Amino acid sequence: MHKKRAFIVTDSFLYNHGHTRPITNKLDELGIQHATFFNVEPDPTLASAKAGAAHMSEFQPDVIIALGGGSAMDAAKIMWVLYEHPEADFMDMAMRFMDIRKRVYTFPHMGDKAYFIAIPTSAGTGSEVTPFAVITDEKTGVKYPLADYELMPDMAIIDADCHMTAPKGLTAFSGIDAVTHALEAYASMMATDYTDGLALKALKVIFEYLPRAYENGQNDVKARDEMASAATMAGMAFANAFLGVCHSMAHKLGAFHHIAHGLANALMIDEVLRFNAEERPVKMGTFPQYDHPHTLRRYAEVAEYLGLGGNTDEEKLENLIKAIDELKAKVGIKPTIRDYVADEEDFLGRLDAMVEQAFDDQCTGANPRYPLMSEIKQMYLNAYYGTRVKV
Ligand SMILES: NC(=O)c1ccc[n+]([C@@H]2O[C@H](COP(=O)([O-])OP(=O)(O)OC[C@H]3O[C@@H](n4cnc5c(N)ncnc54)[C@H](O)[C@@H]3O)[C@@H](O)[C@H]2O)c1
Ligand SMILES: [Fe+2]
Repeated sequence: MHKKRAFIVTDSFLYNHGHTRPITNKLDELGIQHATFFNVEPDPTLASAKAGAAHMSEFQPDVIIALGGGSAMDAAKIMWVLYEHPEADFMDMAMRFMDIRKRVYTFPHMGDKAYFIAIPTSAGTGSEVTPFAVITDEKTGVKYPLADYELMPDMAIIDADCHMTAPKGLTAFSGIDAVTHALEAYASMMATDYTDGLALKALKVIFEYLPRAYENGQNDVKARDEMASAATMAGMAFANAFLGVCHSMAHKLGAFHHIAHGLANALMIDEVLRFNAEERPVKMGTFPQYDHPHTLRRYAEVAEYLGLGGNTDEEKLENLIKAIDELKAKVGIKPTIRDYVADEEDFLGRLDAMVEQAFDDQCTGANPRYPLMSEIKQMYLNAYYGTRVKV
């Protein structure tokens, strides 16, 4: 591809454990100059992206290689924007839109200076194939998903070799993250036949292989390979159909209480399935092609495809939730937020602020049922206590 200068973005763990070495060895062999930024922290901040972008500006790469989980890939995307468009304003880019394809703010055009390659090491966020980058503004503590097709990587390399060393926690959390991607994409107001196929297949593969990847991931190449593909398929589904209120709530739960992204989704997804399945919601999503609430049927279709049994749609939904709960338990995830956030007073004290930010998240717009803030609050409370107050 006639590239001369490669800039690698990764985190310190992957760098220190030699994960970038096969890449740099190859670049050396090809006579391509390279530099590596390895200070990406989990749930990257705007400040660290700015630091990486400053290095990038000095080095002037014509190709960027992001290696890592969602954190490294997302941070690299933001660095890429800041490198190519230092004039772009973050708050403008972070503006929310009902449909990112019809926004009034034009995202800067990407790719004039550097080609972007993403290599995931977790399965996963799907960031290697999505137009999203989740970044935390360290000044306000707010976690923003930036969304625009300009943020799509030019190339994704899905290689199970990069996933073999993933620890159990990461395997479990990022695996359930992919489950929620597929479920939210399937229920989204913007789901299409194209995204449905990807979402269903991803779910089937994850239900079969995530427990194996969790139990014996260091040795089970087949399980890692299946999970790597499934996470990317789920990514392709939500890159086009978008997500929903589970991710809105997970983003803010993660940012407020320092809970890993996939785990935060795992703790909210049951609530969201019940909430979205309501046939007579207070407010339904507002998108022309979504003319009546039908999400219960959609979830029943998922249960049918996964072969979970049940006679009525209600039974199928319950079987789907049961199967998700069993999957979470198999990979060591506890059932309630309280299991992870012991300080009840702190949780309740900051709940209203978390609710307001979750309502305002970019992901809320594609949810099939439009949530009231009071409903988001009740979902958080149910997920905290393990109660089932109807929302
Ligand atoms: N852009 C998107 O579309 C999108 C979607 C979902 C989530 N996200 C974001 O992704 C982030 C979470 O990403 P993640 O779950 O992949 O975790 P991560 O990138 O934060 O990584 C977690 C830890 O696992 C380590 N690790 C990663 N791969 C490893 C491997 N193969 N072997 C050993 N250790 C490894 C990392 O060094 C790190 O310490 C969150 O910030 C979330 O908001 C983005
Ligand atoms: Fe996610």
